[in-house]
Amino acid sequence: MSVGVITYLDRENNPYIVREAVPDDSSDIISLITEVGLEGEYIANEGEYYSVEQQRHILTQHPSGQLILVALVDKRIIGTLEAVQGTFRKNRHVATMGMALKKGFRGLNRGQGLIMALEQWAETQSVEKIAISVFESNGRAIHFYKRYGFVIEAIRPNQFRIGGQMVAEVFMAKYLSD
Ligand SMILES: CC(C)(COP(=O)(O)OP(=O)(O)OC[C@H]1O[C@@H](n2cnc3c(N)ncnc32)[C@H](O)[C@@H]1OP(=O)(O)O)[C@@H](O)C(=O)NCCC(=O)NCCS
Repeated sequence: MSVGVITYLDRENNPYIVREAVPDDSSDIISLITEVGLEGEYIANEGEYYSVEQQRHILTQHPSGQLILVALVDKRIIGTLEAVQGTFRKNRHVATMGMALKKGFRGLNRGQGLIMALEQWAETQSVEKIAISVFESNGRAIHFYKRYGFVIEAIRPNQFRIGGQMVAEVFMAKYLSD
């Protein structure tokens, strides 16, 4: 199922676009994830991630139960979201996601379009629960997810070491109503 090409307005009423990623987006997606990883604060990887070829392979295969979205401003990819549905009958109702916006493009409500498009896809896949894990130190992300109806389900202490500090892993989830 395709989410189509959707135009949203950011906090300053400027448009941005959300659509499903295509194979030719691979290099931009990998650059973005690598850059955010190198910031060292928000996601677990610190540079090492899929290669562009691996990402292209995934986008070409377009596996069912997997969604990769991109957000664009002025035709440039400024954000991405990936969601993967459980592969077993027992956990097919859960989609686990991760997302990131490029530095310089945050704080203007541009994550919203990615979340809305994800939910649109999730409903067509009969997903009942969207799950994400967040560093406890990432106050902006926790605030952001709560705004869209995510709740904290569990906290695993001392799961990461970031900048010399022990940081808990916060498990958040949103239940989709029927
Ligand atoms: C987290 C992220 C997806 C949110 O998207 P966004 O478009 O920047 O978020 P928004 O602008 O819609 O909202 C951010 C909110 O956090 C608030 N905020 C900012 N810094 C904060 C902080 N340190 N603590 C608490 N809230 C904070 C803002 O005030 C805003 O809330 P408001 O709309 O109620 O005023 C994006 O900032 C991002 O990609 N960050 C870096 C990567 C990352 O953290 N990914 C998530 C990993 S789980």
